[in-house]
Amino acid sequence: MRGPAWIRQPCSLTHAGLSLPEFIPLNLAGSSVSTDWPALRTAAAAAAGRAYAPYSGLRVGAAGLAADGRIVTGCNVENASYGLTLCAECGLVSALHASGEGPLVAVAVVAGDGAPLLPCGRCRQLLLEAGGSRLLVDTSGGPVELSALLPAAFGPADLEARKDS
Ligand code: THU
Repeated sequence: MRGPAWIRQPCSLTHAGLSLPEFIPLNLAGSSVSTDWPALRTAAAAAAGRAYAPYSGLRVGAAGLAADGRIVTGCNVENASYGLTLCAECGLVSALHASGEGPLVAVAVVAGDGAPLLPCGRCRQLLLEAGGSRLLVDTSGGPVELSALLPAAFGPADLEARKDS
């Protein structure tokens, strides 16, 4: 297993007036999808409203735009066995795969108050494989590339290059 195509395929296309991810999927070439950030934030807030977070009291919702225009969402789901908690981004990435192909091109994560919440470290790693290093992630200062939140990341190419055989 060498990782998804969008991690491995260098590309220099532009997308919605922005530079596309350094590694993007072949199926994104020619895509005209553009990011409606207010809609993405609204979808994330709606997902946060459906969170199951009785232990922390922190509701989180995540919404992602896929390259084909789908908006997929997720919310955090806690458990009495605390370590089993699922972050909102986990649900989002599962929904992405369950409903079609990747990759993600933009993601908004918000808390129950509707304001942006930065993904935890584990979820940054998860988002990397779902959207590549140039996935746009919303912050309180506006969208930034995932590479700014997860510099010098470990990825599928490292796994392939460094394993024993
Ligand atoms: N949480 C997320 O859903 N995403 C993150 O990126 C950070 C944390 C959730 C997990 C847990 O239910 C609650 O926030 C408190 O950590």
